[in-house]
Amino acid sequence: MIQANRTERANGASLDVSDTRRAASTRPAPTFAPGRRHVLDLDDFSAREVEKVFQNADAMREVMNREIKKVPTLRGKTVITLFTEASTRTRVSFEQAGKILSADVINVSGSGSSVEKGESLYNTALTLQAMNADIIVIRHAHSGAPYFLARHLDACVINAGDGTHAHPTQALLDMYTMRSHFGRLDGLKVAIVGDILYSRVARSNLWGLTMMGANVTLCAPKTLIPPDMLNGRTGEDGHPFANVKIETDLERALDGADVVYALRLQMERQQAGHLPSLREYSKTYGISAERLRLANPNALVMHPGPMNEGVEIDSEVAHGSRSVIEEQVANGVAIRMALLYEVATPMRG
Ligand code: NCD
Repeated sequence: MIQANRTERANGASLDVSDTRRAASTRPAPTFAPGRRHVLDLDDFSAREVEKVFQNADAMREVMNREIKKVPTLRGKTVITLFTEASTRTRVSFEQAGKILSADVINVSGSGSSVEKGESLYNTALTLQAMNADIIVIRHAHSGAPYFLARHLDACVINAGDGTHAHPTQALLDMYTMRSHFGRLDGLKVAIVGDILYSRVARSNLWGLTMMGANVTLCAPKTLIPPDMLNGRTGEDGHPFANVKIETDLERALDGADVVYALRLQMERQQAGHLPSLREYSKTYGISAERLRLANPNALVMHPGPMNEGVEIDSEVAHGSRSVIEEQVANGVAIRMALLYEVATPMRG
């Protein structure tokens, strides 16, 4: 597949993604669920689907590295990004992904649109539907908003973060980044540190990573761990999160970790009383160079952004040699291209 794409690049021709499909069809393994039209969370994904997204992202990364980053794959399709919450990376990467694939991309944000005038999500959605959107990428403060759109619209819906619930495209790009360094996810020791309670990123990563066989440790003060995870049963055989450990001691969580994944404190969602002070939090749970030494010497440092340097992560770690935070951003475009392609292409193999 890569060879075919290389030849095309040499000819200056566009990516024929059907090559990806043909090559994949000769192998039994990765496949996207036939008929999947939405990406809402990873809890309904299979490992084969995740592998298929990775496989397509490899091909998309090649397109991104071309001198002329443009292929006609989604020509004539309209992608609307509807973001009613702040975003830099996710929104821009969906826009870039759509544009590289030649889709028409229209960005709608909460401020400056009729959402500000009190329009309901339902009415906004009907308006977008009337404009014949093929794919709607939504970020919304309310958990479940993308599911609501998926129920009521004909368009494909991609969840770009809903409340505290899910952020599947972030988890896919995170796993893709880990896999590109270690060549596997199975057996990797991933420590996710920070505001687990309010983090949609942690939740989607938890589904994805455990499905792909990674061993996850969630580390936070007790007040930032979901109460149902504090009962000590996540690590038990038969539990859906049998590979998940809960840890309130950062040193223990980092011990031998292959990936140290720091999370921002989601102050915009937290109610008062979770932490005595930011200073104390950072002293106890901030990822410093000294603490990073407890992890595997080749450990990756990751963060979904935006970072609050000096709080959950020290600047020297965030920009240090183990950090792959910018790689996450670049991989985010490839993963979103792969997903836009998959949901918009009705015949998949
Ligand atoms: C995350 C989000 O919005 O959930 N950021 C992102 O998408 N890159 C995490 C965060 O805001 O801290």
